[in-house]
Amino acid sequence: HQFSKRNQWTEQLFKETLPKREKYSHKGNHGKGLVVGGSVGMPGSITMTVQAALKAGAGLITAGTVKENIPIIASKCSESMYLPLPGENGFLTNEGKISLFNYHAIAVGIGVGRANETTELVRDIINQANCPVIIDADGVYHMKATLSEVKRRQAATIITPHPGEMAMLLGTSISEVLASPFSYAQQFAKEFGVHVVLKGKHTIITTPDGKQTVNSTGNQGLAKGGSGDVLTGITLAMVMQHQDIFQSLCNACYLHGKAADMQVDEQNTVYDLLASDVINGIPKVYRTIS
Ligand code: APR
Ligand code: MG
Repeated sequence: HQFSKRNQWTEQLFKETLPKREKYSHKGNHGKGLVVGGSVGMPGSITMTVQAALKAGAGLITAGTVKENIPIIASKCSESMYLPLPGENGFLTNEGKISLFNYHAIAVGIGVGRANETTELVRDIINQANCPVIIDADGVYHMKATLSEVKRRQAATIITPHPGEMAMLLGTSISEVLASPFSYAQQFAKEFGVHVVLKGKHTIITTPDGKQTVNSTGNQGLAKGGSGDVLTGITLAMVMQHQDIFQSLCNACYLHGKAADMQVDEQNTVYDLLASDVINGIPKVYRTIS
C-alpha cells in the first residue's frame, strides 16, 4: 500500500517536537493570528477555525470577516477579537486596506465562497503579508489566479486542500490526484515553493523542497463538514508557535486526528462526531503529554 511504505508522523515525534508552554510565557509568546474568512450566511466555518486555534494554544486570534458575521461568531466565541472587513454582495473584498503586519501568521479562505471580488483580497494577502499564510478551502480556488505571486513570496505559504481542491488547482481530476497523491503534492510544492497539506484518510505533508510525511491519526468520524475548518485553526496555532514549519504542520495534523480518535474512544462514535467535538478532544491529547 502506497501509504505504509512512507515516513509516518508518530506520537513519539509529536511529543518530541511540540513546543513546551513555559511557566513564564505570556500571550505574545504564543502568536497573534488573523483568520480571514466567512461571507454573509457563512459564519459557522470561521467560528470553528477561531475556536480551534485558541483551544490549540494560540495567544491571540482576530477574526476578520464581513460585519454581519461578527455578532454571530462573537456569541459563540468570547475569546476572539474581531476585525470587520468590507464586503460586496455578501462576499469579502479588498476595498479598504487591512493591516497585515501585526500578525505572526494568517489563515485565509474558510467560508469565503468563489465571488470574483474575493480573489483580489486573497491576492493582497499573498503579496503583502510577510508572515506565514495558510490558504484553505475556497482560498485555494482564489489562489489559482495568483500563482505567480505565490511563487515570489518570501515568507512560508501553506495550502491545505482536500483532493477535490487539489484537483481544481492542478486542473486534473480527483481520481488522478488520488492515484498519485505523493507525486502531485510534491510537484506542486516544488514548483510554487509552498508547503502542501493534502488531506484525506492519510494526510500527506510536503515541504517546498519535496520532503514528505504521512499523518498517522484520524478516523472516519472526521468525514463531515467542519473538520477541515478545525484543522486550519489548529494549523494556525501550531505555525505561530514553532520555528520549523514542517514540524508545526505535522503536529497540527497529528493533534487534529488524535483529538478525533480520543473523542471516539472516550465519548463519541464515528457516526456522531462533530467538528466541535474534535475541538473538545484537543485537551484530551494535551493531557497525554507529560
Ligand atoms: N479518515 C481520517 N480523516 C479524515 C477522513 C477519514 N475517513 N475523512 C476526512 N478526514 C479529515 C481530513 O484529513 C481533513 O483533515 O477531515 C478533514 C476534512 O477536511 P475538508 O475535506 O476540508 O472538509 P471540510 O472543509 O470540513 O468540509 C467540506 O469543503 O469542499 C468543501 O464546500 C465543501 O463545505 C465543504 C467542505
Ligand atoms: Mg475544507
